[in-house]
Amino acid sequence: MIIAQEKKQRFAEQLAAFKKIVGDQYVFTDEETLDLCAKDETENLHFLPDIVIKPRTAEEISEVMKICNAHKIPVTPRGAGTGLSGGALPHFGGVLLSFERMNAILEIDEKNLQVTTEPGVITEVLQNAVKEKGLFYPPDPSSRGSCFIGGNIAENSGGPKAVKYGVVKDYVLNLQVVLPTGEIIWTGANVLKNSTGYNLTQLMVGSEGTLGLVTKIVLKLLPHPKFDLLMLVPFNDLEKAGAAVSAIFRAGFTPSALELVEVNALKIVSEFVHSNTIPVPDDVAAHLIIEVDGNDMDVLMKDMEAISMLLADFDCGEIYFADDAQQKAALWVLRRRVAEAVKLDGYTIEEDTVVPRAALPQLIVGVKNLGIEYNFKVVCYGHAGDGNLHIRIKKEGSIYSLNNPAIIPALSALFKLVKSLGGTISGEHGIGLVQKEYMPIMFNEVSFNIMRGIKKAFDPNGILNKGKIFDEH
Ligand code: LAC
Ligand code: ZN
Repeated sequence: MIIAQEKKQRFAEQLAAFKKIVGDQYVFTDEETLDLCAKDETENLHFLPDIVIKPRTAEEISEVMKICNAHKIPVTPRGAGTGLSGGALPHFGGVLLSFERMNAILEIDEKNLQVTTEPGVITEVLQNAVKEKGLFYPPDPSSRGSCFIGGNIAENSGGPKAVKYGVVKDYVLNLQVVLPTGEIIWTGANVLKNSTGYNLTQLMVGSEGTLGLVTKIVLKLLPHPKFDLLMLVPFNDLEKAGAAVSAIFRAGFTPSALELVEVNALKIVSEFVHSNTIPVPDDVAAHLIIEVDGNDMDVLMKDMEAISMLLADFDCGEIYFADDAQQKAALWVLRRRVAEAVKLDGYTIEEDTVVPRAALPQLIVGVKNLGIEYNFKVVCYGHAGDGNLHIRIKKEGSIYSLNNPAIIPALSALFKLVKSLGGTISGEHGIGLVQKEYMPIMFNEVSFNIMRGIKKAFDPNGILNKGKIFDEH
């Protein structure tokens, strides 16, 4: 009884302290706000925080963290909640730190081709802002219209353009970070080359909000390419579509996107967005979406023609060329909304496997065989050019994979297959909560101990995004 009262009083004191730091109106304990921050896009999982705080500055976050660290309150950072591995889910309750108010683009440095931004900026907003100056920020996750750049850094996101332009890590030059203990640091410098000490910048990228809270971001930009061409190529054999992918690169081409969408996924998403852009004859098994970009239209036309000819060797069907911006946009809408559409159709469990590109056909065949062996339905789609295959699983009676004995053996077999092909568990979605169980397939205790040591160096009390990626003890 006394303990319960003491707890209540401590909670009231902490709440008052947080309000003093960020302002009354930015500290929330109401059911609606807590509920909104209890989920992301991962398998309909739901974990309520105790408090939601929406700070505006690094200094405010620093003060909040000092209190949380002193009282060992779990803190979960949250961007836009579009994550697919549960990284932003507050599964220990505690404080949920939302970055939604930290949404300013601070400086576009046209002389150096850099942008400095806050983490709560929507990725597409940033892309459009730099595009107005003729500049290009390529990483383009499917959720770019709603996800935050800070979340992209936490997960080291990719997207279709990664195949030519690389992923988020390839663009991050320098980060301002609030440490779990409340200190504020910069990880590097605003330079293109840096051999000065350990690379703390890259350590932060992809650390899934477990090491520090990113409050300012300096990104490298490129000049925006002038033209692109897009084509859609049907195949009646999924494995052959997979084999065609590596042949394109071996022949000397680097498309700016090379995506694969299995036909079931295409049917589901076409219905979902009420589109008949792509006719889907019964004998088609999958499509490749291939984009090339650059500054010389003649070169692009020639590349597209040469790629088309090469694809004939893989028994492709009639190729559809998107003629104008509208047709291109319609195709990309279909591709970008696959995840949403198939999730609603019951394919709730999403994996993000990645293998060396030439192993893609073996992965595709292996996944289909596992579906038969473990009795699940599966649709495949994703960034074939990167060997990064999104595998969506529907298993009767199982919405979740987390701690689910009906799913664990199937996913273990999948990840062992991926490892045997030279690949790994996640290419761009992160490990978070739902893939954590399978990390021992990739790492032994020696590696885990190094990771635990790094975690402890940043977060001695283990309060920040506790229990994500791996167990601390
Ligand atoms: C995509 C997301 C799910 O590629 O990564 O659509
Ligand atoms: Zn993806």
